[in-house]
Amino acid sequence: MTTTIPTITTAGVVTPRTVERVIAGTPTSDGAGVKLTRVLTQPLQRRLDPFLMLDAFATDNPQDYVAGFPDHPHRGFETVTYMIAGRMRHRDSAGHEGLVTNGGVQWMTAGRGVVHSELPEQEDGRMEGFQLWLNLAAKDKMRAPWYRDIQSPEIPEFTTPEGVAVRVIAGASHGVAGAMQRETTEPLYLDLGIPGGATFVQPLPADFNAFVYVYRGGVQIGDAQVPVQRMAILANRPDSDGVVLTAHAASRALVIAGRPLNEPIAQYGPFVMNSNEEIFRAVEDYQAGRFTAQV
Ligand code: FE2
Repeated sequence: MTTTIPTITTAGVVTPRTVERVIAGTPTSDGAGVKLTRVLTQPLQRRLDPFLMLDAFATDNPQDYVAGFPDHPHRGFETVTYMIAGRMRHRDSAGHEGLVTNGGVQWMTAGRGVVHSELPEQEDGRMEGFQLWLNLAAKDKMRAPWYRDIQSPEIPEFTTPEGVAVRVIAGASHGVAGAMQRETTEPLYLDLGIPGGATFVQPLPADFNAFVYVYRGGVQIGDAQVPVQRMAILANRPDSDGVVLTAHAASRALVIAGRPLNEPIAQYGPFVMNSNEEIFRAVEDYQAGRFTAQV
């Protein structure tokens, strides 16, 4: 008697997603002249709904980061700062203060408005990390501001039998719940350390928008090569059920996915609302000092 072995790539994912596009970021500067690479740019917001922006920063030169991000406002979305190396002090108009350091995350819900600063607490050494902007649904955009500093040891981690080290910042992976769970957008945010030759499999709902950003080494997804400092947008197909990544050499990569909001996006700098009228209101409220008064 013969046994038919089904062509399952790995348990849980039968039809992996392919890569729709590989994107190089745009070098830019923000805040008081901090050099960074904008990986997810404004033209991709609709495609990668509910994600609005991903900035990557990585430098050994203090001149690239030391001025930081002095007081600036946000309204209508969430910022997720993930620090790989370095120390960044956060202060906001509600009197909150925190320190994000090596391997830690700050999750901030700007909601109806905060004014905050993000300033490096170091004058030399390496600064490396990411800031992701996650949209809020229209019904949540004017909720009260909130934030949480998540120190590195609080981020759940596990290692797969193939030796892939997985940090679960948000959502869940292989039965391990992440440090943060969010309703509505249900974000998945993983940081992978993949040994050379190893494969990692992650189930994903077919309707979620998803991307991978490689920041060490290089990975293969389907027949696409994704080199270092590139973002791969994963194709959405109704029959796809996850992503399979294989590293050629020791690699680090972020896997980010979320449920699209399918709502209008109106952005003016640090304000992201649903209509121009709401943007005008945000600018008015900020200029009238109402962001600082209400929190
Ligand atoms: Fe900010």
